[in-house]
Amino acid sequence: MKLTILFGGASFEHEISIVSAITLKGKLSGFDLSFVFCDQDHKFYLIEASKMKATTFSRGEHKKMPQLSITNGSFSQKTMFSSVEHTGTVLNLIHGADGEDGTIASLLDFFSIKYIGPRTDASVFSYDKRYTKWLCVAKNIKSVEYEVLSSKEHTNINIPYPIIIKPARLGSSIGVSIVRNESELDYALDVAFEFDKTVIVEPFIEGVKEYNLAGFMAKGEVYFSIVEEPQKEEFLDFEKKYMDFSRSEKVLKAGISPELEVKLKRAFEKVYKNLFEGALIRCDFFVVDGKVLLNEINPIPGSMANYLFDDFKSSIELLSNSLPSNKRVKVNY
Ligand code: DAL
Ligand code: MG
Repeated sequence: MKLTILFGGASFEHEISIVSAITLKGKLSGFDLSFVFCDQDHKFYLIEASKMKATTFSRGEHKKMPQLSITNGSFSQKTMFSSVEHTGTVLNLIHGADGEDGTIASLLDFFSIKYIGPRTDASVFSYDKRYTKWLCVAKNIKSVEYEVLSSKEHTNINIPYPIIIKPARLGSSIGVSIVRNESELDYALDVAFEFDKTVIVEPFIEGVKEYNLAGFMAKGEVYFSIVEEPQKEEFLDFEKKYMDFSRSEKVLKAGISPELEVKLKRAFEKVYKNLFEGALIRCDFFVVDGKVLLNEINPIPGSMANYLFDDFKSSIELLSNSLPSNKRVKVNY
């Protein structure tokens, strides 16, 4: 199968996207793969799979970020359209702003390029956490209670501590803090408002059971896999999530009861149907007193949550074959 992986991007999740692309190169070996890298200035580069290497992880003073190194180092700049024009399916793997927020989806639709990934409307509803809450109301899906802050001043939060503070439009735990008492609030708000002018406040539910469900629908069937996140002593920040490579071993295959599996699958279907067609998404759910609450939707999950699929290659093939060729996927939301 011919597949072009579009990755990089200009968001704070640029490096995560590089990790995702390198991971998928390994997972999809055997496919006729090519890569289109979008740099932080929105320039596109076509990279042959054989030249696609990112093995070094620099350990700078402040951060440990993966560095993309490409054999030969020479690749030419193209427009996004000319890079992907004659390829098979494109897989949109650009996380965060200008990738996961509907921008790239619109561009791909504009050029009638066949792609795996969320369409524009789906991206908008899942990328902005405020809109996800609205979507939950519209689709009758339960979620965690929340408040929206648009300024650090005059902040009157009515949710009791501990609370969690998140920028409305960011992923990978960037800018997120748990606040246990008032003395910690100021700093957490400074951090969150550094990344977005809208901030979401939710209760931090101590010891909550969290389940990650990755899946997609193809030809009317739902394909999915669920894992239970191990109980965390604390919140997983960016480094623990992405730079601790032993963590994948800690992900437990869930001993989920058949009743809970049905509930989670139903909630996933409600989220997905008539909105996420064409995408492989990961929904993160909490279960509180037997009730399934949607925490967030990741419309382009890190490394496409490949570790949740027994046969990831066949899943991608199935999803790709279910897309209308060179036509927009129609969503009915
Ligand atoms: N936003 C990242 C990539 C994730 O949550 O999977
Ligand atoms: Mg996320």
